[in-house]
Amino acid sequence: MITFMLNGKEIQVEVPPHWTLLRLLREKLCLTGTKEGCGIGECGSCTVLLDGMPVNACLILAPKVEGRRVETIEGLGSRESLHPLQKSFMDHGAIQCGFCTPGILMSSKALLEKNSQPNREEIKEAISGHLCRCTGYHQIIEAIEALKE
Ligand code: FES
Ligand code: FES
Repeated sequence: MITFMLNGKEIQVEVPPHWTLLRLLREKLCLTGTKEGCGIGECGSCTVLLDGMPVNACLILAPKVEGRRVETIEGLGSRESLHPLQKSFMDHGAIQCGFCTPGILMSSKALLEKNSQPNREEIKEAISGHLCRCTGYHQIIEAIEALKE
């Protein structure tokens, strides 16, 4: 049994000790917004925030989040009320198939929270762990850049 904060709410859940955080989120908690691409830490599609830092949920054992704060794409915005990053990604055509999008949005959120004025290099660095097969990255960088304060 583990207890942790998930998208601002404390939850308690039973999980086998060998399960990853990704499996817990998707298979037990039905939070399927976090995607599984490679499963080995190479693609970034499973990125969530752990205590505000982007991590690959496929590489974190679920029991490791005991007492910690996890944020997933489901906590970012809703259909009725999009997060400004989600809106900017839509406005800039930064979403095509959308498979990489939840992970990139979480890394972008972490970037902007610690640096509200990132330059292009800092944006590229922040999304460097993410593979996108569709957009060519340009629109993604522009969408994040548009949110500089
Ligand atoms: S699924 Fe976790 S990095 Fe690819
Ligand atoms: S939009 Fe398809 S992988 Fe990025």
